[in-house]
Amino acid sequence: MPTPSDLDAITLDHLRAVPSEKWSTFPDAIGAFVAEMDFGTAPAIRAAVHDAVDTGRLGYLSAPVLAAHQEATAGFALRRYGWEVDPAWVRHVPDVLAAFEATIRHFTSPGAAVVLPTPAYMPFAPLLRHLGREVVEVPLVRDGDRYVHDLDALAAAFAAGAQLLVLVNPHNPTGRVYEPAELAALADLVDTYGGMVFSDEIHAPLVYAGHAHVPYASVCEEAAAHTVTASSASKAWNIPGLKAAQVILADDGVAAHWREHCLWTEKTTSTVGVLAHTAAYTHGEAWLDDVVAYLDGNRRLVADHLAARLPDVGYTAPEGTYLAWLDLRAYGLDRPGRWLREHAGVAVTDGLRCGAAGAGHARLTMATPRPILQDILDRMTAALTAR
Ligand SMILES: Cc1ncc(COP(=O)(O)O)c(C=O)c1O
Repeated sequence: MPTPSDLDAITLDHLRAVPSEKWSTFPDAIGAFVAEMDFGTAPAIRAAVHDAVDTGRLGYLSAPVLAAHQEATAGFALRRYGWEVDPAWVRHVPDVLAAFEATIRHFTSPGAAVVLPTPAYMPFAPLLRHLGREVVEVPLVRDGDRYVHDLDALAAAFAAGAQLLVLVNPHNPTGRVYEPAELAALADLVDTYGGMVFSDEIHAPLVYAGHAHVPYASVCEEAAAHTVTASSASKAWNIPGLKAAQVILADDGVAAHWREHCLWTEKTTSTVGVLAHTAAYTHGEAWLDDVVAYLDGNRRLVADHLAARLPDVGYTAPEGTYLAWLDLRAYGLDRPGRWLREHAGVAVTDGLRCGAAGAGHARLTMATPRPILQDILDRMTAALTAR
């Protein structure tokens, strides 16, 4: 298991030696934009990947490998979320964006309007446009220090003909973990208009004490009947390059439609990725819990530092995910992401990439060793206070 001191000891030199996207894109800055962790992955996953290479399990996906993956995913969903999933309805996909693409292509009609609460994970809007769908941005609204869905605006979008809602829970970039009553209200609304939901639950294993992930499709029968859920080990165990993820279906009709239209998407999933996901869901929870505890310390460090040194930066510690959504509007910066890279040497994601609602904000990935996170905060403090 990684101890906090193991993770603290990972250095910038070590990270830069791996030409990952996070550490090679902006060589002059600290990488904090892409949602990757700097902690490697769980021993069980490393062993599974080594074993696949050593025993030559590099061929096409086989029925036994897929069956083990279905059982492992269903077992994890039951243990972690209390969600009873039929293993046969766990489908393999290469990644969550592929699941999204297949859902949009085959569960909405060409030219359909799709509701995207914003700020949103950056690729959704451009991918929807690429697929010939109309993007209806519906900004999340503030309820105290939390972001919540604007039910009236969502209802208006569906009433105007929208066919599908993109739900991300836990939410990227705000870190919200939606509560059962919020999800039930959404289910009611979508059901009223006969809409669909793509429920992206990629960050679900990364939830902090005091909050609990509730799978959207588990809140009621109506939700199950209008939802395609995407899950993955790629964020929580840091293996997005292995190209595997899951679609979980909870209704006969949705499952039959998926089977009829989406099998070509399934076919592009990686065998090694599926083996890695099976290992994560079966033997990876202790490592995950240690990492979540470490990340909990990181989100608190950001809160304490900002409160003491940069009180004009708006920040609510995330309830899940390792993303910090920073409100920098007090500084009047045109593109805070670019400004922080140029003036603080910290590469973050500019909020506008998450939609118009992200103007004046930036998204910071906190999944880095704490001394590096402290360096990030010190650099930002020096640059912003010198302005
Ligand atoms: C909410 C969300 N959905 C999807 C993805 C992309 O996942 P994948 O690499 O499985 O396509 C990410 C990556 O950060 C994400 O945060």
